[in-house]
Amino acid sequence: MPLKLTEKQKYGMKLLNDPKYTRIAFTGGSRAGKSVAFMEFMMQRAFQFPGSRQLICRRALVDARRAIWEDTLKKYLTDQIPESEYTLMKSEMRVVFKNGSTIELGGLDGEDQLQKILGTEYLTIWLNEATEMRFEAVTILITRLAQSVKDTTGTFTGVNKLIADANPSSPRNWVKKWFIDNVDPTTRPPKKLKDADKFVHLHFTPYDNAENLPPGYIEQLDALPYEMRERMLKGNWIGGEGQIFKEFNAEKHLIAPFEIPRTWERVRAIDFGYNHPCAILYTAYDYSTDTIYVYDEYKESGKTIDEIAEYMNNMEQKRHEFYDCTWSDHDKSDRAFLAKHDIVTRAAKKSVLDGINAVRQRLSSISPKTHKPKLLIFNNLDALIDEMYSYEWHQSESEVMDKDAPVKINDDLVDTLRYVVYGRDKDNGISL
Ligand SMILES: Nc1ncnc2c1ncn2[C@@H]1O[C@H](COP(=O)(O)OP(=O)(O)OP(=O)(O)O)[C@@H](O)[C@H]1O
Ligand SMILES: [Mg+2]
Repeated sequence: MPLKLTEKQKYGMKLLNDPKYTRIAFTGGSRAGKSVAFMEFMMQRAFQFPGSRQLICRRALVDARRAIWEDTLKKYLTDQIPESEYTLMKSEMRVVFKNGSTIELGGLDGEDQLQKILGTEYLTIWLNEATEMRFEAVTILITRLAQSVKDTTGTFTGVNKLIADANPSSPRNWVKKWFIDNVDPTTRPPKKLKDADKFVHLHFTPYDNAENLPPGYIEQLDALPYEMRERMLKGNWIGGEGQIFKEFNAEKHLIAPFEIPRTWERVRAIDFGYNHPCAILYTAYDYSTDTIYVYDEYKESGKTIDEIAEYMNNMEQKRHEFYDCTWSDHDKSDRAFLAKHDIVTRAAKKSVLDGINAVRQRLSSISPKTHKPKLLIFNNLDALIDEMYSYEWHQSESEVMDKDAPVKINDDLVDTLRYVVYGRDKDNGISL
């Protein structure tokens, strides 16, 4: 029976076959038809370019065997291709076609596997469940995307393509950054890719594949807990299980930068660090709507307190700003150093859980005047936005370990955010 593609898959095939795109991602919910569309493309390539090699790569080879070899690949061959056209080489996990083309499976988890892949050139590489892989490994794989082969007419040389499928994970995953936002995942702040016009992505959900799913499947996804439902049904890139600021949502809490009125109160906060980054957050408060706006951030390691003070004073002068309060962590000597540079600080209220609750409270309360949350963040503050997603509770099962404590990694700017928000909201701001 010929394969009847869904409308989404048909559109996907157009993108895959468009020679101007060489980096193509199909992302989104589960059972949405991504893998079947890619398999169709791999088969087309094998027939269109005799002698061509295609690699389907997954981080762990056992997963590739289960999800691709035993399922999508075998199903496709059995239903679509006459047996006389190909040979299955099970031990090598390779299909060899009569025209000399191959489709093989590979994994990145074994030295032998890796050497085999690195010793071959491919026309097409498919990264299956790409979010599981490390970006560094992918950049190495790309060097193998170098086979030059002509099509059946002998006139057209095949364009090498890297294609990737994934269910969404954290918005900080490289797949989201590279394929969707088209920024370099290794740079900070993320730099726009120079060759962004080669990239394209297509968002899938199970609704796109409803005609091929068992009855009740979508309802089953709809009943999942919040994060799973967002990722598996809607295909949204949202934070993981342990995320502390679950209320944080880019659509609701990020706004485009604007000129902040002079009359709004300005409050800074600083968290000292030398080995771990020193973080400074700049915020403004609009009394009329009871809203805190976070408008600037600073996050750097290896700076002396003198350098930090100089930076703060320069910013203040450049922007002609006056700060009603500068919250700081409790380090007495650092605060004394800042005071020497005319930066007077107040020791922040350090209760971590109270601070977290204050932030969550603001994230989820809506100002009746603006109809927006009472805590808004300028959308160009990449480091803070990253931390909002990655700030997590300890997941340990240990009785001794305090599960109700945040993991102390990548929390420099959220610490300063806690100082500002709790400083404002404790005692209804009377203490400010
Ligand atoms: N065009 C089609 N015709 C018939 N069945 C299809 C078609 N497309 C997909 N399916 C079936 O729908 C199911 C899900 O498809 P597929 O495996 O491609 O989804 P997926 O998006 O890759 O899912 P996951 O995110 O779970 O990997 C499979 O059982 C597959 O055989
Ligand atoms: Mg799949």
